[in-house]
Amino acid sequence: MRRLPLLALLWLLSAALPAAASGFGVGGPFALTTHEGGRLASEDLRGRPWVLFFGFAHCPDVCPTTLFELTGALAALGPEGEEVTALFVTVDPERDTQELLAAYMDAFDNRITALRGTTQETATVARAFRATYRKVPLEGGSYTMDHTAIIYLMDRDGNLFDRIDYLEDFDTQVEKLRRLLASG
Ligand code: NI
Repeated sequence: MRRLPLLALLWLLSAALPAAASGFGVGGPFALTTHEGGRLASEDLRGRPWVLFFGFAHCPDVCPTTLFELTGALAALGPEGEEVTALFVTVDPERDTQELLAAYMDAFDNRITALRGTTQETATVARAFRATYRKVPLEGGSYTMDHTAIIYLMDRDGNLFDRIDYLEDFDTQVEKLRRLLASG
């Protein structure tokens, strides 16, 4: 696996939310297929806190790091963290088949569900979260994906509560998740 070029990494890190603090305009209706084959719609998440992250299974660096850190943060929450649903939405449904995602998710906390959509469904959910992604060709005919790399913390009403940035201090990540759990 090739590492992301520095410029691509900087692009990822700078892909900030226009309305990060207010939460207005982030989130919206979506319906996608889980790595276990079920359907999950945004309405199903009402009444519980949840987090969402965009990525792809072939990601060499950012996604596995984020998923491992999230796995650690969920563990650090203890029993009260059982309430949190975590969603990993693939921006590469072409390669991330349900079977591949099911195998990939084995490495992470079982509260994290991978979600896959059609090309159109993927575009819809990304637009709802003001996330960006694009295919970047690699030598030899393969490709990687650039994508927004923040974790969206969503409250029980489906509004943006906070965000966790890539490689944010681990204790801060846990603290933000605790505040999310304690909210409304
Ligand atoms: Ni990634």
